[in-house]
Amino acid sequence: MSEPRAVAPEEVDEERVSDIALRPRRLDEFTGQRGVKEQVRIMVEAARQRGEPLDHVLLYGPPGLGKTTLAQIIANEMGVGARLTSGPALEHQGMLASILTSLDDRDVFFVDEVHRLNRAVEESLYPAMEDLAFDFVAGKGAGAQTLRLTLSRFTVIGATTRAGALGGPLRDRFGVTFRLDFYDVDDLVAIANRSAALLGVELDAAGATMIARRSRGTPRIVNRLLRRARDYAQVRAAGRVDEPVATAALDVLGIDSLGLDELDRRVLGVLCGSLRGHPVGVQTVAVSVQEDPDTIEDVVEPFLIRSGLMARTPRGRLATAGAYRHLGMAVPSGALGDTDAQAPLFDS
Ligand SMILES: Nc1ncnc2c1ncn2[C@@H]1O[C@H](COP(=O)(O)OP(=O)(O)O)[C@@H](O)[C@H]1O
Ligand SMILES: [Mg+2]
Repeated sequence: MSEPRAVAPEEVDEERVSDIALRPRRLDEFTGQRGVKEQVRIMVEAARQRGEPLDHVLLYGPPGLGKTTLAQIIANEMGVGARLTSGPALEHQGMLASILTSLDDRDVFFVDEVHRLNRAVEESLYPAMEDLAFDFVAGKGAGAQTLRLTLSRFTVIGATTRAGALGGPLRDRFGVTFRLDFYDVDDLVAIANRSAALLGVELDAAGATMIARRSRGTPRIVNRLLRRARDYAQVRAAGRVDEPVATAALDVLGIDSLGLDELDRRVLGVLCGSLRGHPVGVQTVAVSVQEDPDTIEDVVEPFLIRSGLMARTPRGRLATAGAYRHLGMAVPSGALGDTDAQAPLFDS
């Protein structure tokens, strides 16, 4: 639900394979997020010196910023094994029990979309995280017995697009929380260059900058744009990705000068259209653009806000003056000025 959309189904497999191939394995290869990286480095080093498992870690941020990557890097840097699952995949307590009882000492248990655990599973995770205990009921009725299993020491790494979607009791059981933020253009250029080298694509500096500027601050989108530009270059431009090739590929994908895609523009269109100047609730926006409200909130809005095109007010969402200008519309008087929002990430 919170995965990046606007991807053709046949592209999903290609994307998954490429995500894995391009995924950094060590902390040194993980570009950007310097504050988070430094804290991870210190935590891992300290836990290793003491021979202890790492504290439970919660990672949150929009899709494609490196949560899964970082979780695997943490396991690699700890020198331990990792088991990967997701909230919706853990359908019942038995599935959780079978994973937890198979973990080795200090292993990482990665739970993607941790805000989507069902209640029974979530509640049996609490004693596991706190006391390394798993309680389950054997038998039924008067003869039922509660058995307590003792687990190996382990670390839960949870990932979610929104920390606010997590219930308090679960959130409190994570010792540390790291927020991944959108990447700046320099970091995205570095990621584009690294991926180009791994894919064997010739990418020049102007091409890399063009891709970096239009990738919504998101490494997964850098990699996606690079693959599309590579196709275009192969068929039309002797294999080299330069600025004209990158621009042509982006135009084909409908990505504009700010890196906004069609859905981003439709959302801004709602805020700047007939409802102009009135705060709009996320449900109304979702209905108007026929998308899931979670996608609007988790994927579209963070970037529009970060780009200074939209603001969340207590009464609803509002477009800023910059949004009207970007859509080529007259700015209504009283629109939120550019100075009220964060400066745009990318110039056009
Ligand atoms: N800091 C980074 N440096 C280099 N590549 C990255 C970085 N973060 C993410 N990526 C790339 O982006 C892709 C998506 O990252 P992922 O960890 O799956 O994001 P998330 O789990 O947050 O949705 C991965 O293939 C990875 O190669
Ligand atoms: Mg992920």
